[in-house]
Amino acid sequence: MNEKETAKTRLTDSGAAADLAALARQIAYHDVLYHQKDAPEISDAAYDALRLRYRKLLAEFPHLRPDGDPESRVGAAPVAGFGKVTHAMPMLSLANAFTDEDIEDFVDRIRRFLQLPKDDVPEFMAEPKIDGLSASLRYEKGALAIAATRGDGATGENITANVLTIADVPKKLNAPFPDIVEIRGEIYMNRDDFLALNAQREKEGEAGFANPRNAAAGSVRQLDASISAARPLRFFAYAVGEIAPLPPLGGRGDTDGDAAGLGGTTQQDLRSQLARWGFSLNEPSRLCSGGGALLDYYREIEALRHTLPFDIDGVVYKLNRSDWQERLGFVSRSPRWAIAHKFAAEQAETRLNRIIVQVGRTGALTPVAELEPVTVGGVVVSRATLHNEDEINRKDIRVGDVVRIQRAGDVIPQVIEVDLKQRDEKSQAFVFPTHCPECGSLAVREEGMAVRRCTGGLICPAQAVERLRHFVSRTAFNIEGLGEQRVRELWQDKLIRSPADIFRLQEHREALARREGWGGKSVDKLLAAIEARRKIPLDRFIYALGIRQVGEATAKLLARHYLNLENWRASMAAAYEAESPERRDLQDIDQIGPLIAQDIVDFFAEPHNLAVIDDLSRILTVEAYEKPSGGSALAGKTVVFTGTLATMSRAEAKAKAESLGAKVAGSVSARTDYVVVGDDAGSKADKARALGVRVLDEEAWRALLSSL
Ligand code: IVH
Repeated sequence: MNEKETAKTRLTDSGAAADLAALARQIAYHDVLYHQKDAPEISDAAYDALRLRYRKLLAEFPHLRPDGDPESRVGAAPVAGFGKVTHAMPMLSLANAFTDEDIEDFVDRIRRFLQLPKDDVPEFMAEPKIDGLSASLRYEKGALAIAATRGDGATGENITANVLTIADVPKKLNAPFPDIVEIRGEIYMNRDDFLALNAQREKEGEAGFANPRNAAAGSVRQLDASISAARPLRFFAYAVGEIAPLPPLGGRGDTDGDAAGLGGTTQQDLRSQLARWGFSLNEPSRLCSGGGALLDYYREIEALRHTLPFDIDGVVYKLNRSDWQERLGFVSRSPRWAIAHKFAAEQAETRLNRIIVQVGRTGALTPVAELEPVTVGGVVVSRATLHNEDEINRKDIRVGDVVRIQRAGDVIPQVIEVDLKQRDEKSQAFVFPTHCPECGSLAVREEGMAVRRCTGGLICPAQAVERLRHFVSRTAFNIEGLGEQRVRELWQDKLIRSPADIFRLQEHREALARREGWGGKSVDKLLAAIEARRKIPLDRFIYALGIRQVGEATAKLLARHYLNLENWRASMAAAYEAESPERRDLQDIDQIGPLIAQDIVDFFAEPHNLAVIDDLSRILTVEAYEKPSGGSALAGKTVVFTGTLATMSRAEAKAKAESLGAKVAGSVSARTDYVVVGDDAGSKADKARALGVRVLDEEAWRALLSSL
């Protein structure tokens, strides 16, 4: 990473919010390409760099966490075609580390969380990180019953037939084994096998895969398992999910008394047990004491990575003791007790031929670099996102420049910098367009914003079509049979100009069936898919409107708060006045805040948006939000911790409370439900008593936890 990248940003709140939202969108876009289409457009390094930029910016502006926050999402939702499998235990991901300092922080955080004494050096299992496709294999009574991809972490695709063809996946476990056990691991391809497969495909006139990961993912996701069978896939195991009955708890490192279970109580024992059941493990692994030993391992593996038969993109460290793993638990998408330490990116130089500007659903103009195709570590790269106008100016990127690009494992890199020595003296700075390249409307950049936007709204074909596509997309109205091509056609022919027109398409059935490439059957199928969506839950409806910064999570928050469409619509219209109680109410919703509130209010200030809502509400049934019943007694409660707790660190207490659905706040107010008071508690306890908030001492808090 160059210095410019790490320099502290000097952004305003609104600039940071726009950047965070833009980064979140880019990450989501690349997640879909990677997880669902097996066809990433950017390298892992560029992807990691995006995530790193996002994380750093969020660390500076933690109050601006955007909608669709990638930190609280793993992978992408499953694709159609395969059956779905709900994982008995969620499949999570790993946080990434890049520097020695990140690793020291990781170890320090664990020590602090567990309150380890100075002389207690934690042990870690270190393993190579193979970049493949994670899978969960469920064994019932020792026999492979179901295999699934990770999907979005909660639900994956059923790939049992394909996995049964992988030679080093045991179809039966070696005894003894528990009744049920889910084995988690990685499906991958060796480098030589990948090269041979690509050579063969080339001979047969088929496109080669970009890298071994894509080859593995593409091979597993063959609906015809005989194709998977012909591919040289491999599997190594690294973890377990559900296991039942739970094995008896032995002493630390005690594997002997373990009849049919997990295999002792360390990561090392788990690995031995996985091997006894018949799985291959990822080697070379090593048990390391403390952070220094981890860094030694990292350097050794980095030096020998090219001699391994498979590509690796880093190493993984896992705290060895399972009881400590248990206490540390998880934070959003990854465990606190493990981390992936990534290798530095590889770089190459190439010429930038053209900068094109794309227009998105919200009118954002995004510059994209078209590069002279260049091979970086065996992958041909020809495009990269340039993020925004400022990024181009900051790096002074010009058409015709020789640019340095970066990659870690594969595909398209990120533009790192320009080689000024090779710049043509006649070259000119790139002038960002002030008008939309799609519709010619003025494109403006609001004060403090990084993004320039087209003001054409629905007259801009790019925006109109993108909005309609968003409206019918899987997570919104989920109307199958209305892909980009069809939406564009119908928009151009003025059959769909606004979302409600979709529900009037049945009036044009005959005309549709006569269209080239449509046919009566497919039109009927489409019309049936549309009819099935005349009833829609409020949160999906809100999300489908495509309001800036209102993704699925925010739409849910709004639905939960306003309960029905009429109430929401009326409140949003009234929230137009910045000082109104409705505006305050809106921005007081946890995780919404003034910036998102402003975007929602702006949406409602546009008469054509109100017309869209009203038109839709006449022809659809928007279902009121239903409060889910049940949940833990702490769910939705606000807890404040003050003073020093004797039996757990503040971080552990906070994590525990959050895992039970509570919100942990820093200060006491009348809205606080519980104040947990440790030693040397200060004024917060007094304030709580004055406000009549329930005050619990540590013992009462623990009693409350154990009663749940
Ligand atoms: S452990 C709860 N160990 O990397 C922790 N993962 O970037 C589960 N991966 O989702 C992961 N090698 O697909 C683990 N030795 C290894 C791994 C490994 C590759 C993959 C895995 C994970 C992803 C996170």
